Amino acid sequence: MEVIIRPNKESATTLAANLIADLVKRKPTLVLGLATGRTMEELYDKVAAMKLDFTFCSSFNLDEYIGIETIDKNSYRYYMNKHLFDKVNINKKNTHLPDGMAKNTIIACHEYENQINDSGGIDVQLLGIGRSGHIGFNEPLSALSSRTREKALTPTTVAQNSPLFDNPEDMPKRALTMGVGTILEAKRIIMLVTGTEKAEILAKAVEGPITSMISATALQLHPACTIIVDEEAAGKLQEREYYRWIFENEPEWEPYRVV
Ligand code: GLP
Repeated sequence: MEVIIRPNKESATTLAANLIADLVKRKPTLVLGLATGRTMEELYDKVAAMKLDFTFCSSFNLDEYIGIETIDKNSYRYYMNKHLFDKVNINKKNTHLPDGMAKNTIIACHEYENQINDSGGIDVQLLGIGRSGHIGFNEPLSALSSRTREKALTPTTVAQNSPLFDNPEDMPKRALTMGVGTILEAKRIIMLVTGTEKAEILAKAVEGPITSMISATALQLHPACTIIVDEEAAGKLQEREYYRWIFENEPEWEPYRVV
């Protein structure tokens, strides 16, 4: 795991966008793992503005609410269309989200895993972090080897996401989500975390012991995971001097230091 600290949200988001751009340019058939949430909105704005060629790319989203139609503006399909897919030249047939309206969620989740495998696996998985420490919707006690499945949402997550609904009461209490094990199989992971309200959970996720109580701690097991944070989110990291040194001195970050 590597932690990269940038001065503010803008520069952290720009770095994440530049990393994605380089991956898409290097591999035109890139399989992207995508995330939703407020943190991702600016990232998708920047990626869309780069006019990258997504013609041969495909994507798999982490999660989707159960019981919300894809045309509903609170669905993650709607979010993805609005913030990214409608703005770039990706073929929507190659974009996938778990089917939150499936009659049989067990079969739907199994099929989702098969589709990921058939695509050759996710090349780069984008992640945010929820205040409960979740990645995707892997709430506390999600097995570190879990696969795509139905998950009940914690009160913390409901409190975090329900203000996005016109009527907060309408927020579903269940979702389909890739499992922690599914996420860990991505070849590369890029997590973006900004703002003081994430500082405490980020420190636990990065520097705390691995525990199913905080599914983001499982990222410590991944061999190619980059966590990009702004100074606000980095506020409670013990080793932040070391992380700053890495970005300023390691040759792999040289091309990204000038921006
Ligand atoms: C939702 C998503 C997560 C995302 C989280 C963070 O809960 N399921 O994948 O990481 O939101 O959201 P925000 O960026 O709005 O803090």
